Amino acid sequence: MYDVYGILGYPVSHSLSPIMHNFWFKKYGIKAVYGAFPVKEELSAGVMGIRVLNIKGVSVTIPHKVEVMKYLDEVSREAEEIGAVNTLFWKENKLCGDNTDWKGILNSFLERGVEITGKRVVILGAGGAARAACYAMKKGGASEILIYNRTFDKAQKLAEDFGGKAFPFSEINNSEGDIFVQTTSIGMKEERSPVGEEVIRKFKVVMDVVYVPLKTRLLKIAERLGIKTIDGLSMLIYQGVEQFKIWTGITPDSEEIRKILEEVLKKENC
Ligand code: ATR
Repeated sequence: MYDVYGILGYPVSHSLSPIMHNFWFKKYGIKAVYGAFPVKEELSAGVMGIRVLNIKGVSVTIPHKVEVMKYLDEVSREAEEIGAVNTLFWKENKLCGDNTDWKGILNSFLERGVEITGKRVVILGAGGAARAACYAMKKGGASEILIYNRTFDKAQKLAEDFGGKAFPFSEINNSEGDIFVQTTSIGMKEERSPVGEEVIRKFKVVMDVVYVPLKTRLLKIAERLGIKTIDGLSMLIYQGVEQFKIWTGITPDSEEIRKILEEVLKKENC
């Protein structure tokens, strides 16, 4: 008998998570399949479905990462602090929620040998990805976190929650620091960077959570300037690695799957 896993959210049809987790299930000889559960509005019914159909594990994505928390039996301390859940799993008949996005971000840096301790970090955006990024940078030992967002109130809320400083997006050209983390949707399926060369050159490392295209305009400029870059595919894979660990106890290989997903993105002309 095969166990069933999947991704819950909307839209999910283009998600790379099914390819990633099914590849790992097969590679590690686990009898399980991972599908896509497109749920737009009926989230409580969706979670009920997980319960009654005995779905073994679920990735939660936009737009449900926050709201899903109220339908769960238990939520991890990290997910509680970030204020979002992206992973569901069972523990002693309780449906539990955790957040692996922050580890996906943190491990993307550590895997590239980037030291975060004592560094000044600029985070662009104040949505769910930015919250995970703030948490990751704090855990990594960043000395200063500066948050820039179009909606200033949201930047202020994040700054309060994670002990950073808030700025309006209109002041981004004055930003400077060691690490720049771009968490907005700017650059997704478009040749546009939220900041120009004169800002980018003030940083030593630039990360973009966008992975369509894999090399965003922001990362292209950074690369041209000889600055270390970290792409969004890296975050996707490392958050998936942590999910797979929670579900199976196995730490899956991240290099092979990266090559596979790069090919998928290339074929889709990303
Ligand atoms: P996610 O969970 O992926 O972080 P989100 O919670 O919808 O998604 O957050 C999207 C972020 O991108 C927000 O910080 C948003 O800014 P606002 O808070 O002002 O909405 C930011 N964003 C999206 N499009 C943007 C744009 N064109 N210019 C500037 N910021 C943008």
